[in-house]
Amino acid sequence: MAFPAQRLRRLRASESLRRLVRETRLAPSQFILPLFVCPGERVRKEISSMPGHAQLSIDNLVREAEVCKKLGLGGVILFGIPEQKDEMASGAYDPDGITQRAIRALKKEVPGLLVITDVCNCEYTTHGHCGFVKGGDVDNDTTLEWLSRAAVSHARAGVDMVAPSDMMDGRVGAIRRGLDSAGFTNTPILSYAAKYASVFYGPFREAAESAPQFGDRRSYQMDPANAREAIREIALDLEEGADMIMVKPAMPYLDIIREARNTFDVPLGAYQVSGEFSMIMAAAANGWLDLDRTILESLTSIRRAGADFILTYFAKRAAEFPL
Ligand code: PBG
Repeated sequence: MAFPAQRLRRLRASESLRRLVRETRLAPSQFILPLFVCPGERVRKEISSMPGHAQLSIDNLVREAEVCKKLGLGGVILFGIPEQKDEMASGAYDPDGITQRAIRALKKEVPGLLVITDVCNCEYTTHGHCGFVKGGDVDNDTTLEWLSRAAVSHARAGVDMVAPSDMMDGRVGAIRRGLDSAGFTNTPILSYAAKYASVFYGPFREAAESAPQFGDRRSYQMDPANAREAIREIALDLEEGADMIMVKPAMPYLDIIREARNTFDVPLGAYQVSGEFSMIMAAAANGWLDLDRTILESLTSIRRAGADFILTYFAKRAAEFPL
C-alpha cells in the first residue's frame, strides 16, 4: 500500500508530532566536556583557534566544573598541561602532577560530577609524541609502563574513569593490570579504541601544547582509510578489559560509529574533536551557518549513527538547548 494511502508528510506536519516520533534524542547527560588544566592561579589562557575555550588553572577549572554539574552534563574529561616537559613524560605519572592535583580538587570541590582523565603522554614529552621515542619512533612497550603508572596515579587521586588515547598496542591490558594490582579493580577504562591519525586534531594541539616536534602520529594512530581495522582495534581493547569504547573523530567517521554500534554491545562514545568544533565556529562567525542549529544537527547525527555519549566542546551550550 503506497501513495496516496501512505503519506509520510502526515507525521511531519507539526512540531508536536515531529517531537513524538523523533527517533534520536539528546540529553545533557550524554555530553562530556573536555577541559584543559594548567599550572598557576587565576589563569584563563584563551585558545585562539577554539573560541570560548581556554587553559584553566585549578581554581578556574573548579568553577567551570561547577557550571558543568549544574547543567547536568555527563561529565568532564581532563587534559593536563604540565609546568615542564621532558623525554620521559614524567609529569604524566607524577603523583603530584597537574592532572593529579586537578582530580583531587574536582573530587573535593565538585562532588558528584563524573571526572574522566585522558591518559596519554604527548602533553608531557618535549617532542610531543605519545610515548617513549627510540630510534625515531615511539617504543610501544616502554610506553605501556608509563601509561599504567599514569592511570594508577589518577586512580589514587580519585578519578572516576581513565581514557587512554595513545593508541599503543596492549595499553588497555597494561592499564587494567596496573589498576587491579594497585587495588583499583572498580575503576573503569574508556578506551579511545578507534582513534584515527586525523587532521582534525589541529586546534587541540594548540590547546594542549602537544604538537609532535618531528614526524606525525601515523605509526600509532589509525589510517583514515581503514574501517575493518577499527573493528579489530575495538575487539582487542574489549578483550584486554575496556569497559567502554570510543570512536574519534566523530563526524567524518559516522560509518565507524555505526559499524561499532552494530558489532559491540558495550557503551559507545564518540569524540567530536577540536577541528570539528573550530570548523563549525568559523562558519558561524562568518554568518555561513547558524551556530545552534549546526550544533544540534551535528550532535544528532553522531547519536543517530549509534553513539551513546559524545565528547564535545559544545557540551555546555548544547545542554542549554531545549532538547
Ligand atoms: C592525545 C589526544 C589528542 C586528542 C585527544 N587526546 C591529540 C592527538 O592525538 O594528537 C585530540 C582531541 C581534539 O582534537 O579535540 N593523544
